[in-house]
Parts: sequence; structure tokens; C-alpha cells
Amino acid sequence: MKNLLTTCLFLCCLLAVRAADNPNVKKLFTVTSGELKLTFMVGADDRLYQLAFGDAAREVTPPAKMPSREWEFLPPYGNGVLTEPAIQATHVDGNTSTELHYTGHRTETLAPGVEQTIISLKDPAYPFTVDIYIKCYADNSMMEIWNTVSHNEKGKVVLHRFASASPIVKAKEYWLTQFAGNYKREATLSEERLSEGVKILDSKLGIRAHQMRIPSFILSLDGQARENEGEVLSASLRWSGSFQFAFDVDWNKNLRLLTGMNPLGSQYNLERGGTFITPAILYTYSKQGKGEASRRFHRWAMANAVRDAEKDRPVLLNNWEATHCDFDEARLKQLFDGARQTGAELFLLDDGWFGNGPYSRDDDKHGLGDWEPSVKKLPRGLSYIAREALKRKVGFGIWLEPEMVNPQSELYQKHPDWIITQPKREPILGRHQEILDLTRPEVQAYEWDIIDKTLRPNPDITYVKWDCNRYITQPGSSYLLPTDQSHLWIDYNWALYRLMDRFAKGFPNVMAMLCAGGSGRVDYGAMPYFHSFWPSDNTDPLGRIKIQWGFSHFFPANTISAHVTRMGKRHLKMAIDVALSGAFGIDLALDKATAEERAQIAAAVALYKERIRPLVMRGELYRLVSPYESPLASLSYVSTDKQKAVVYLYQTKDGHEPRVILGGLDADKKYRVEEVSLPIGVASRFPANGKVLTGAELMNQGLENPLNAQFESAVLMVDILP
Ligand code: DGJ
Repeated sequence: MKNLLTTCLFLCCLLAVRAADNPNVKKLFTVTSGELKLTFMVGADDRLYQLAFGDAAREVTPPAKMPSREWEFLPPYGNGVLTEPAIQATHVDGNTSTELHYTGHRTETLAPGVEQTIISLKDPAYPFTVDIYIKCYADNSMMEIWNTVSHNEKGKVVLHRFASASPIVKAKEYWLTQFAGNYKREATLSEERLSEGVKILDSKLGIRAHQMRIPSFILSLDGQARENEGEVLSASLRWSGSFQFAFDVDWNKNLRLLTGMNPLGSQYNLERGGTFITPAILYTYSKQGKGEASRRFHRWAMANAVRDAEKDRPVLLNNWEATHCDFDEARLKQLFDGARQTGAELFLLDDGWFGNGPYSRDDDKHGLGDWEPSVKKLPRGLSYIAREALKRKVGFGIWLEPEMVNPQSELYQKHPDWIITQPKREPILGRHQEILDLTRPEVQAYEWDIIDKTLRPNPDITYVKWDCNRYITQPGSSYLLPTDQSHLWIDYNWALYRLMDRFAKGFPNVMAMLCAGGSGRVDYGAMPYFHSFWPSDNTDPLGRIKIQWGFSHFFPANTISAHVTRMGKRHLKMAIDVALSGAFGIDLALDKATAEERAQIAAAVALYKERIRPLVMRGELYRLVSPYESPLASLSYVSTDKQKAVVYLYQTKDGHEPRVILGGLDADKKYRVEEVSLPIGVASRFPANGKVLTGAELMNQGLENPLNAQFESAVLMVDILP
């Protein structure tokens, strides 16, 4: 620590000396978070330039000449900037350009290891200011960057562009990994080399906004991203709405990373005295490849952005795949019995429990919005059915989709004007439903009331799955002024966060899963209000391996819900082994399963609770063999004290990966290897099973792997010898 401080002081002095010699430089300063550093320079022209973003150990010298305008940290549109602007505003007098001059900066310590620097900029000709916030979490080399825009002009300033940040990196090569896909194939990884020009990755969906791409990416410098080596920046935007990432490689081969809310159709009329806040972009940096970048993201998230990170997630029995909307009290009780017999800890009642008369929720065309329990399916109400679960020592949770309404509902008949729509257009439905306009105060009150009236009188409900099954196709609000229609994209999401916050604070003992027709909403804007998320309705283990692999780059395993189903009709063992690598659950008609299947699941639940769950909840992820590069996928979680690890192997295709090299163990210690999750009477084929190997052997020669046929899978425990 002392050495680090001395080095920092030395570098600051060096910069100060260099600055003093250089007439172009008014001030030099750095913001450092662990291994990641941003170096700033205030030019003789008072503009805020960035000199470097990356390795904190790299020495940065101010250029002999004034930097060109594209090196401004937040390049503003219109007065000489030639590149993609970060900020674009039309001032009250109609001037379309903005000029931003540095007026000062300050750094404060928010908590041990957490510092925040605020850099203030102002247009010299207008009362228009931008404050850049950079929050540094030194332990994980994580920077969280956002900005606020305010003004005191006599009228409304129109904001057209509002990037959260636009740092520049400089390397010989830039390799971009993105996680795109669609329903049932979410977070699919692909990597490409960037060339000159602007590459845009975005979402224009408003809500359920991440259905086709999650707001996260990895940038590898000077070569493709590798798991354990190489320089990478890993980023994620804390925003559940539409987003835009622009990767701009300019004529000098510098790469500018413009990230933030999608400005498309979102111009914002900012009142005098108002403040516009951008969501934060998170950047972590690693010189040990994307594996370490993921672990840094996970550690950061566990400490800062996942609700009750330290609490074990319960083993769930969910009924969606088993029953859809077709159930009654008797059927649910049978499922509760199945949950108890297999050791599941909580029953999650999915869609279909509400709506009455013509609007009974028997399919996805009816009843959304009418959150009264179905008298047909649950004649004795929610508290009765929750108690029936508890009688069997199984907790009870419930599905909600508060943001939506079916036209076939009482709510819609009463309040047709509450939906997001546009005048003179034929409504476009998504999954037969419309979106309630959350910018409208009555809708905000109504959605809170749905949550409150479902949970408050029923304290036995201790879990909520919050779903959202469509995106915005006709951005219009009958509440917002005609001139402010474009505010909808942004105001909706801030109102949503207020609602989620109220839910989390109002029901601190209710756990929650974030879902949006699969993983249509997974980001660190929403995650602080949730314990886990639903990665996909694709629970075929073959598909799930890649989907969970994608999310593992940013999200810790305790947030990644993984349920055993019969989708794809794969071997039950493989379905179980894949689910054992996440927040484990089951979505099966247990009452119809064979005795053998029930026994297999019960054994998996017991194994998970006793030995695996602590590692999934709190272990450190090591991705070992990528399903994108091999017929085998393998990953492991290692306890932070390096005493234990769980290792998963899945054959997604025929083929052989002879050895799996482990990571994260203590090289000098001895570990016993044991294959677990074996069906009764089946012997392990792993040569290392029951043997003792050193950490060095496991991390150098690795584990000999006998698997070679598609759908084979294995789970192994690695325990340190006392
Ligand atoms: C979409 C979710 O992803 C599913 O798990 C399920 O909850 C359905 N919605 C219910 O409508």
C-alpha cells in the first residue's frame, strides 16, 4: 500500500513537472482505480482532454502539441468537434453548439476503498454545466462513470445526445466481444476485430430492452480476448432501457467508447434549473484476461449491486413449464408434495393465478392487469394456498407482471388511456398485451398497489418473479405533453427504478427474480433490487450452457437462475448438472415424474444444498474450456479460501478434450478429487476420482477427462486435505 502511494505521488510529481514545462497544459491529473487509470489534461484552451485510459502502471506524458478535439473527454457537438459527440444540446437561443470548459474537480472518499471524483465543466457562453462523476472501486479496478447536465438558461434546453462517458483507448488492435441473441438464445458470445469507422451496438426496445443484446461488452487490446492472459476492459451499462454503444475507430486508429442511453427518438427538453442524469457505465480492467475481469465484476457486484448478495438463494420448484396457466388447488398441492419430497425449499407459482369471469387468465390473451386471485383456480385465495405450501415446509412465491395489461381485462376496459400508444395508429400488440404508461402518476400508484395488495396481506409470500413480456413499438404517452413525447423512453425507466426500489424497501424479506420473457432485462441498473435473474426460457441444457456462459462474464453465479426441465428431452443427468452451476431450481411436473426421476432430483437437491451451493453462492468463477472453442464446456467455482472447488464438464458435441486445466487453487496444497452427481450404482470414469493431487498438478497437467460423447456430463468436487 505504502509502495503504491509512493509510486502514485512520484507519477503525479512527474506529470506536474512535465505540465509545468508545457505551455499547452494548464493542469494534469489522474483518476486511478486499482490497475485502471484515466489521465486528464486541462488544455491552454480550458478544455478537458483525456490522455490515456487503461493500465495504471503506464507512464503518460502530455503531448508537445495541443491534443486535437477528438481527445476531449466529453466531446460536445457543433463548435469544431468532428467526431461522434458525447453531448449535443440546442440552447434556448437556438445555438446548436456547446463548448465545455473545465472549472474544477474534487475527489472524496465515500467508503474504504471507494473514491469519487467529480469534474465540473461549463459552457463559457451559457449557464450550462456538465458534471462528470467517476466512482472508483480500487479493489476491483472498477470505474463507474456518469454525468449530470444542468442549466440556468431562460427556457428549455433540448438535449439530443447524452453519452455516459467517452473514454479513448489506444492499441494496435481492438477486439470486441458482444453478447447478442434473441428469445431463447440470449447472451450469445461473438468476437470481432474493429476497423476504422463507427460500429454501433444498441437496443431500441425501451423495455424488455435486452432481448436482443445485453448492455455489456468486452474489449480486448492487441489480440483476441483470452481467459487468463491479455489486457481487457470489460463494461456494463446500468440501464434497463434502450442503449447505444458506439465504437469509433478514427483516422489515427484511436478507439473512442461512447456508451449510454440510446438517443434515438429520445431528445429531452430540460427545464431551467433541472438536472438530467445519465446512467452509469461500469468499466473494469484486467491484465490477466477476461477471466479475472469477470471475477472483478462479480466481486464488485456482490459488494455493491446485487440485493442481499450474502443470502443463499432457495432451491425453487417453479410450475411454468409443468402447468402453464392450467392448475388448481389440488394440482398445486401435489406439486408442493413433490417439492417437499425432493427437498425444494420454495414453490414459485407462475403466471395464471389471477383474473376472473371473462378475463380469467387461462391463456396469455386474458386477465393481465386484473390482479385478483382466480376464484376458479384458487377459491380460498392466496393466503390459503401459501399456507398449504408452508404446511409442507415449502416456502411460497408468486409471479407478477405489473407493467402490462391485456386488452381483454377489466383494467383495460376502465383505463384504455393508461397504455403506451400513439394517436391515429392501429395498436400493435406484443404477446397479446399492451404496456402501462409508467410516466403517468396514476399508473405508478396502480403498479405499486398491485405489489402491495398481493404481498402485504399475505406475509407467507416470500418470493416474487417480476416479469415483462414485451417491448415498446409505438412510443407515445397520453400523459406526457405533445412536446415531451420523446421523454417516454427515459422517464419510463427512472419511474421503473423508483417502483423497484419501493418494492425492495417495502418488502425487505421478499426475495425477487428479475425476468422479462427470458432475460429481456438484465443489467446492473435493475439488479440491486433483485436476488437473481431468469437467463432464458430455453432450459434445454444444450442451449443453457452457452446462455449461462455468456452471462457469467458479468454476473455472479448466485444471480443466474438455472432450473432442471425436460426441454430438449436430454438426459436428466445433463439437465441437472447444468442447473447445478447456477441458482438451482426445478421446473417439472414432479407429480408425474417417475420414482427414479424423483430420486435423481432429490439426490441432486441434497448434493446442491450440502456441498455445491456454498460455492455457487460465494465461490470465484474459473471458466476452463469454452463451448465456443471445444466440444466440451467446463467451468468451476473455487472458494475464496481455496479450500474447495466444484468443477463442471459438459459435452455439447461428440469429441474429446483430453485434459481440463483447473484454476484458482493453492499450488502447494493437496486436494482430493471426487466425482459427484452420479446416478446410483454408476461408477466414475474419471481416473482422478478418489485420488489426491496437488493444486499444482491440477492447474498444470489438469484433470484427465474420460468424457467424449454428446450429452455426457460430470460434476466433481475438489477438497483440500486437512
Ligand atoms: C416468460 C417467462 O420467461 C417464463 O418463465 C414465464 O414466467 C412466462 N413468461 C409466464 O407468462
